[in-house]
Amino acid sequence: MKFFIDTANLDQIRDAAEFGVLDGVTTNPSLMAKEGISGNEAVLNHYKAICEIVDGDVSAEVISTDYEGMIAEGEKLAALHPNIVVKVPMIKDGIRAISYFTSKGIRTNCTLVFSPGQALLAAKAGASYVSPFIGRLDDISSDGLELIESIREIYDNYEFSTEILAASVRHTMHIIDCARIGADVMTGPLSAILGLLKHPLTDIGLEKFLADHAKAQG
Ligand code: G3P
Repeated sequence: MKFFIDTANLDQIRDAAEFGVLDGVTTNPSLMAKEGISGNEAVLNHYKAICEIVDGDVSAEVISTDYEGMIAEGEKLAALHPNIVVKVPMIKDGIRAISYFTSKGIRTNCTLVFSPGQALLAAKAGASYVSPFIGRLDDISSDGLELIESIREIYDNYEFSTEILAASVRHTMHIIDCARIGADVMTGPLSAILGLLKHPLTDIGLEKFLADHAKAQG
């Protein structure tokens, strides 16, 4: 399972990269705005900065919602760095744009996916990744993990190569459940990744090992 961090914050991306288990980064317009990144030039430079920190895929989202606009934006983003994956929303023009990008060898991440049918369309268009937002489904009392299960089943039935990128991951149990179901990638906050470290028996065990070692040394 690949671990992506879902942020545009360079310090957090650096921390996650130093931790040694990071495979990539996802961003979205809200995360970019949260970092105060505005204006075309600043946005492009920020993506370049992220690509310099992480040796892995970096999802950069288009803002346009019409086909021509998405193509122009996506081609500009893809030209920034070989690791850029163009993130495209799950709308009609978005599927058309993903199909175009696929034919040009530009990798894509189809975002804002909330149903198995949407995931099927993304795979048919040749998306490299599909991003089902599990946390946002849980927020409205729908089962986000059930969606991952359905997509896994559909993709396996037809051997689609589109990778399931579980997005809107909020906590460690989301990561563990997604791994059990067989999501290819998860993207979430660094806190959720670091949460995987924790077990009280590990802390108690380590304390005892160190105490016994100290005793043996006299
Ligand atoms: O990047 C898309 C997704 O991961 C957003 O997550 O927490 O805003 O629902 P969240």
